[in-house]
Amino acid sequence: MGRLDHKVALITGAARGQGAAEARLFVREGARVFLCDVLEEEGQALAAEIGADGLASFARLDVSDAEAWQRVVREIEAKAGRLDILVNNAGTNVRHALTDTTREEWDRMLDVNLTGQFLGIQACAPLMKQTGGGSIVNLGSTAGIMGHPVAGYSTSKWGVRGLTKSAATELAPANIRVNALHPGVVATPMMDSASTLFRELVELTPLGRAAQPEEMAEVVLFLASDASSFITGIDLAADGGFSELGTYAAVWKRLHAAS
Ligand SMILES: NC(=O)c1ccc[n+]([C@@H]2O[C@H](COP(=O)([O-])OP(=O)(O)OC[C@H]3O[C@@H](n4cnc5c(N)ncnc54)[C@H](O)[C@@H]3O)[C@@H](O)[C@H]2O)c1
Repeated sequence: MGRLDHKVALITGAARGQGAAEARLFVREGARVFLCDVLEEEGQALAAEIGADGLASFARLDVSDAEAWQRVVREIEAKAGRLDILVNNAGTNVRHALTDTTREEWDRMLDVNLTGQFLGIQACAPLMKQTGGGSIVNLGSTAGIMGHPVAGYSTSKWGVRGLTKSAATELAPANIRVNALHPGVVATPMMDSASTLFRELVELTPLGRAAQPEEMAEVVLFLASDASSFITGIDLAADGGFSELGTYAAVWKRLHAAS
């Protein structure tokens, strides 16, 4: 028995990183998965690899394009007749200080990270309602929980929290749960593991390491599946203790290193 047997899922940003790990896990757990991304070659290849028995297919989707969302949802309705899970995972980050961020960079981060989730919920909720409800998981970040120097990224991720709570309130009567997952540092292409930033963040993470994308996929699975059937509207940080404990943990570590 899979934890997602008979469920149909749409995952954005599924060609690589956390989205790819979620797609692999969801298929293993019995879901039929529509992988969506702007990276067509990688997305097609992954869908072919994990979906030999028809459980995975790829559709090109730029999450900031409202019409493309409508097309993809129509395709899912025609092929699968239902939609149970939406994972708004796609994201982008241009790590410039506020004063160095161009208007285009600002717009792109908000369009993909925040408006993309809004458009996804708007496009998918009607089909979910038709078939009895479902679960929506929005990917946020610790950048939406704490003060963070990249204004565009951080603002978009703080927005994800508001969007999640609004959608959860509105969609609860339709039996659609909406929750936000806030990863800490995760080893994916978004976070160059050879960079000083990566090393510093790992150093400040109480568990002392970055997460693997597969660990985030397990949390997304929990929020997407019936295992979390009474949970809606929450912010769940999966960050190795970074946001709750990071500052004092770092002070404690320095004190002990000094003594
Ligand atoms: N890696 C981290 O340390 C980290 C930390 C906190 C939060 N996150 C969030 O987790 C989510 C997944 O990121 P990841 O770490 O796997 O990064 P990633 O860069 O490996 O993957 C992001 C995916 O989103 C896709 N994407 C980008 N713009 C898109 C668009 N307009 N339409 C459709 N797809 C698009 C990319 O092509 C890519 O496949 C993102 O929302 C990210 O902000 C990541």
